[in-house]
Amino acid sequence: MTVYGEPISKLPNVGTSIFTTMSQLSSDHGALNLSQGFPDFDADKRLVDLVNHHMKSGRNQYAPSNGIPKLRKEIADLFSDYYGAQINWENNVTITVGATEAIYASLAGLISPGDEVIIFDPSYDSYDPVVRLNGGIPVRLKLRPADFSVDWDQVESRIGANTRIILINSPHNPTGAILEKTDLERLQEIAIKNDLIVVSDEVYHHIIFDGQRHESVLRYPELAMRSVAIFSFGKIFHATGWKVGFAIASETLTREIQKIHQFLTFSVHTPTQFALADYMEEGLQFESISKLFEKKRDLFVDQLDNPRFIPVRSRGTYFQLLKYQDALNDMALATKMTKEARLASIPISVFYEDGFDDHVLRFCFAKEDETIMKAVNILNAYS
Ligand SMILES: Cc1ncc(COP(=O)(O)O)c(C=O)c1O
Repeated sequence: MTVYGEPISKLPNVGTSIFTTMSQLSSDHGALNLSQGFPDFDADKRLVDLVNHHMKSGRNQYAPSNGIPKLRKEIADLFSDYYGAQINWENNVTITVGATEAIYASLAGLISPGDEVIIFDPSYDSYDPVVRLNGGIPVRLKLRPADFSVDWDQVESRIGANTRIILINSPHNPTGAILEKTDLERLQEIAIKNDLIVVSDEVYHHIIFDGQRHESVLRYPELAMRSVAIFSFGKIFHATGWKVGFAIASETLTREIQKIHQFLTFSVHTPTQFALADYMEEGLQFESISKLFEKKRDLFVDQLDNPRFIPVRSRGTYFQLLKYQDALNDMALATKMTKEARLASIPISVFYEDGFDDHVLRFCFAKEDETIMKAVNILNAYS
């Protein structure tokens, strides 16, 4: 029988996300869920009160499409100061529905059909499908397996006439690696030489350890001119469910991003924008957030005492990788650990185009210390 209305899938190879799969498995087996990347502690009560306040005082209608001026001004001031950049709130800042929308609007606005986008594997799961949906061709290059650094010579050798965008993510999910000054300098040189745009996912910019400095594209004036820097209030304020993020870019790039944004979502939750603006006005220290998570990373890594698991010490983000020695592939081990030891993690092979499996699991340590210790005890007892 002919089936009418059967869709032709635009993403035939995309199934249920690994985060949904592992979180479901975790809840089915009553496991400790260190798979998905969200804190098990709450956002600051002051910020929650501010959202309530603005709802009660009637700020409940559409916000301006690109974001309320006060929030865009706060962002422009803080990020200009912090990264020594020249950010104008009117022309360079767009408030989006999480970093997810900023990534989508940037790629949709800046890719023309047939453009190649360089992505580094293991890569965050939204990049590849969003490139494809917009007629682009993802060119997925592997980070070096030992330390997850970028091989810039390989990048240069893969640049051709159709290369348009390089997509970077630092601090990096899922590996906890970071890009250094020399990386950004090389990237700037390559981008200028080949007239490329850089989309820079910096949602973990405020979580960087061991006294290191976050190398934002915004620090490098010539690179900043051809880049979109993407951030997430959900990550900054431990409120991932609020889904508010923003993109900072040159006026020309911003114009194209905003054209997509106005038809994708038009605008973002109004009372939350007012609350975030007030909260930022009261002062915001990224350093204290880094310190909070550095202590949690140290607790997780230093208390781990099972030679089967070898940590690749996280340098930023709230993710810790553990390499393991076992015959099982990473998906099989993550599943077995969730079902039998009741600890859920994410297998890293899912973030590779070719499913490369180097026997590595990702654990989220944005958790209360007690939760981290429970997880470590499970790992220490695992045989
Ligand atoms: C690397 C990376 N980019 C983007 C996002 C999405 O951020 P948001 O929740 O603000 O949409 C995440 C969320 O986990 C992420 O890890």
